[in-house]
Amino acid sequence: MCGIFGCILREGQAVKLINDGLKRLEYRGYDSTGVAIINNNQMEVRKDKGRIEEVITSLRILDMPGKIGVGHTRWATHGAPAMENAHPHTDESDSIAVIHNGVIENYLELKDEMIEKGHIFKSRTDTEVLAHLLEEEMKTDIGLQGAMLRVLRRIKGSYAFVVLSTYEPDKIYCARNESPLVLGVSENGTFCASDVPALLPYTNQVNYLRNGEMAVLSLEGYKIVKISDGSEVERPTQEITWSPEMAEKQGYTHYMLKEIHEQPTSLRNGLRLQERYLELLTQFLDRGKEVFLVAAGTSFHSCLAGSYLFSKLARLTTFPVVSSEFMERYGSTVGIDSIILTVSQSGETYDTLKAIDHARMRASTVLGVTNTVGSTLTRVARAYLIQQSGPEIGVAATKTFTSQVMVLSQMALKLAKTRGKLSQDELDEYDQKLHMIPDWVEETITKNEERIKQLAEENMNEELFVFLGRGISSATALEGRLKLLEITYVPSLAYPAGESKHGPISIIEEGVTCVFVCPRGETHSHIIGSIMEMKSRGAKILSICEEGDEDIKRLSDKVVEMPKGIPEELSPIVYITPLQLFAYHLAVLKGLDPDMPRNLAKSVTVP
Ligand code: M6R
Repeated sequence: MCGIFGCILREGQAVKLINDGLKRLEYRGYDSTGVAIINNNQMEVRKDKGRIEEVITSLRILDMPGKIGVGHTRWATHGAPAMENAHPHTDESDSIAVIHNGVIENYLELKDEMIEKGHIFKSRTDTEVLAHLLEEEMKTDIGLQGAMLRVLRRIKGSYAFVVLSTYEPDKIYCARNESPLVLGVSENGTFCASDVPALLPYTNQVNYLRNGEMAVLSLEGYKIVKISDGSEVERPTQEITWSPEMAEKQGYTHYMLKEIHEQPTSLRNGLRLQERYLELLTQFLDRGKEVFLVAAGTSFHSCLAGSYLFSKLARLTTFPVVSSEFMERYGSTVGIDSIILTVSQSGETYDTLKAIDHARMRASTVLGVTNTVGSTLTRVARAYLIQQSGPEIGVAATKTFTSQVMVLSQMALKLAKTRGKLSQDELDEYDQKLHMIPDWVEETITKNEERIKQLAEENMNEELFVFLGRGISSATALEGRLKLLEITYVPSLAYPAGESKHGPISIIEEGVTCVFVCPRGETHSHIIGSIMEMKSRGAKILSICEEGDEDIKRLSDKVVEMPKGIPEELSPIVYITPLQLFAYHLAVLKGLDPDMPRNLAKSVTVP
């Protein structure tokens, strides 16, 4: 996720508005900042690693003259935070400047093609390829609009692109596929931005660019065209009635709720992993004598789900362990043949980095899954994958959990293929289901949110919750319980359901709420037994089950129904969403701030 702001003005300096706009978008990313301005037909680009305020001051960006310009605040996805990777990216003649939010899936093949044609690349980003492709097209007489359309038709992936060029120094071109871009017009000019808060000081009449559309901005306003056939699109503007504070959260009352709702998008991005790194990581996993999955908090629950995925799909035994226990438990036995796969949203968690240090000292191979390019984890791991969730601001991890399980699922499937553990038909079916997950998550949220709010109201005064699941759903239960515990402070337990009768069942009495996670699959008949055990001791049963699952519905007091056809192995990614919403609404009903729970920090960088 990155922040984009562009403007064409009648009066005033564009950089002043770009600076303000980027500051309002800083929540979208903040590792590098850059601006391109055209003045007297000359393009000037200033950019560097660092937060907006730092870069604007150190590069004296506010001194840049000009009435047309674009700016970018970056959240790295390809290439570490560094001056050369900061946007805008330019072609070789510095006539075209490109900024981008998203991930270009086919950039490596396009980059190879451009290199063969003699282009020299200055960065390690996926974005730069667009500047070179445009430069190549501009060698014909097709014009900038034609060049844009031709290039966009070749790009696969998610993007909001904004292009400034001395070929047409009074225009800004932009395009969208799955990454947001909003257009607006005021008396003083025309604007584009990643999000409404950046436009609100100038106009509350906006037009959201849609997937597959390109827009041409000029002082006269904007023209929207379809990328597929170049035809013009007429669409009325929309009036925004949000306050500036609400606008920053896109109308949601809290970042946590916004991030829960962002999951269909973050999961779609999580499906766009770089094939060659996925391949590399799975090769390491395949070669190791033993594989440890090391992480803390929510990331540990992803590892727990991962251990079932590796076992069930790829027949690989792995050892999930919380980072703070790694050294005590395995520190003296890990060695040169051990693989340590670490998972960390921030890439900066102290306990995880400590485990990594130790593993490296013992010559083990350290691999990583993280959300943060340029984090310590990405510097010390032998190889890593970026989970592509975008920045998460709420302290409670939500979209980063589902993205991590999405990445681990793809690793397990790739490994299953390498090791010949699944047939091609099975692999194809899992792959198809994996691609349906973002839609299933969307459907779950849309259909169930009101019902979950009502369930939170009914459970408002509960003093204890018990979360139970079997197999991979025990990871979902643990994560559902962590969400509830950290933001509502209500005491709660989570257990593998089969284990509950070995102790925890003693606390069950009349009226205690037991939350059961029950997807269809191998564990279904066992979970029925566990529900009966709890029900016969007076527990109230709240089940998350498949739509039309009459066996579970008959035994439960309340149910949340999930879409049909989700394979049990992939179920945590979808089945966690009602539990995230339940925790969120309960916290809000209790008058608590779910974004900033007491005693917690987003990233725990201390021992
Ligand atoms: O950045 P990391 O993934 O390494 O962070 C690990 C935990 O601190 C984190 O998941 C924490 O448990 C969250 N607050 C959970 O919502």
